[in-house]
Amino acid sequence: MAIERTLSIIKPDGVEKGVIGKVIARFEEQGLKPIAIRLTQLSKADAEGFYAVHKARSFFADLVKFMTSGPVVLMVLEGEGAVAKNREIMGATDPAKAAPGTLRKDFATNIEKNTVHGSDSLENAKVEVSYFFPEVQIHSYQWKK
Ligand code: CMP
Repeated sequence: MAIERTLSIIKPDGVEKGVIGKVIARFEEQGLKPIAIRLTQLSKADAEGFYAVHKARSFFADLVKFMTSGPVVLMVLEGEGAVAKNREIMGATDPAKAAPGTLRKDFATNIEKNTVHGSDSLENAKVEVSYFFPEVQIHSYQWKK
């Protein structure tokens, strides 16, 4: 399988619950390496731009409000089939529907406070990674088997 990059966000609820380390450990244990990490607080413009695809949805205003309510951790994850693997590790968007052992099952509160975001396709991953990280801030390193 090809080595891919995907964008991961630990949302304000995940940071507030103190599970940054646990979330990153799950990624590392399952073969995804963080190759860029930044803790920051998103501006309204950052969040609106990032979630522009959801602009027409009823939950858009609340989503932007929540995503700007506290710090988030932005990460680029790299690994074999990283886009699908990240989504498998996260579980379903709604934690009530997430499989046992997934991040959202274990840490999320509800569909809004669902702890993590992950790119949903390789195409979107490229857009989302470049939205937050210039190439110079991404430090891919040699894979050792
Ligand atoms: P995320 O993967 O970050 O992508 C968009 C987010 O919108 C999603 O996770 C949810 O946290 C949030 N959201 C809030 N309400 C809904 C909803 N009804 N359906 C889908 N996503 C929702």
